[in-house]
Amino acid sequence: MDPNSFMLEVIDLSFKYDKSDWLFKHVNITIRPGEIVGMYGKSGSGKTTMLKVIAGYMPPSEGAVTVDGKNVIEIVNKCAVHPVQLIWQHPEKAINPKWKMNDVLNEVEGLDHDILDMMGIQTEWFNRQSHELSGGELQRFCIAREFSPETRYILADEMTSMFDAITQAQIWHHFIHLIKTRRIGILAVSHHIHLLEKVSDRIIHFEA
Ligand SMILES: Nc1ncnc2c1ncn2[C@@H]1O[C@H](COP(=O)(O)OP(=O)(O)OP(=O)(O)O)[C@@H](O)[C@H]1O
Ligand SMILES: [Mg+2]
Repeated sequence: MDPNSFMLEVIDLSFKYDKSDWLFKHVNITIRPGEIVGMYGKSGSGKTTMLKVIAGYMPPSEGAVTVDGKNVIEIVNKCAVHPVQLIWQHPEKAINPKWKMNDVLNEVEGLDHDILDMMGIQTEWFNRQSHELSGGELQRFCIAREFSPETRYILADEMTSMFDAITQAQIWHHFIHLIKTRRIGILAVSHHIHLLEKVSDRIIHFEA
């Protein structure tokens, strides 16, 4: 496959929940390997919904999403490993509350343990369940576990919202190093335009 054709493509994407008005219409985005695209938009405008559609967890009302040329819905239905990973906005909802963090990490095949160090994860947290960690501690696990060797694109929904400013900068520093080295494409959603200006290669304003 021609390396120039590797990309996540959002093509004329539109979505509405049943009986509601259109949340967004005709969205077009292209994300290349190793590129960080920031997305900024009003609360409640439909950003998280759009990330779920891009990941293939909900079908679009119109349009399509392709990952290196393949339709994302087909990938979700047929492939054991998903090249597009979503870091959920609310980490406490993204982790099975019965599992210890060790189980959460063991689920990821081939996870490089250096990434746990980069995210500042301490070994004493491994035997705890999600409710026994702070929001920021849990968010570190939610970021680290998306770095399976098969991950090609990450959709990051407010992924550092639980950190103080200094920790946020440290986490982004390591995150950027990882995704540039591994050539992972990023769509980063945030309400904080100043953060996006620091970390993104380019910024899109999400408009309904
Ligand atoms: N399953 C659902 N059924 C119907 N409406 C929904 C559903 N999930 C979300 N919504 C509505 O869709 C709209 C967009 O929600 P969404 O979570 O995508 O916004 P957002 O831009 O991510 O907001 P925020 O910036 O606050 O995270 C909201 O009005 C929300 O109430
Ligand atoms: Mg949201």
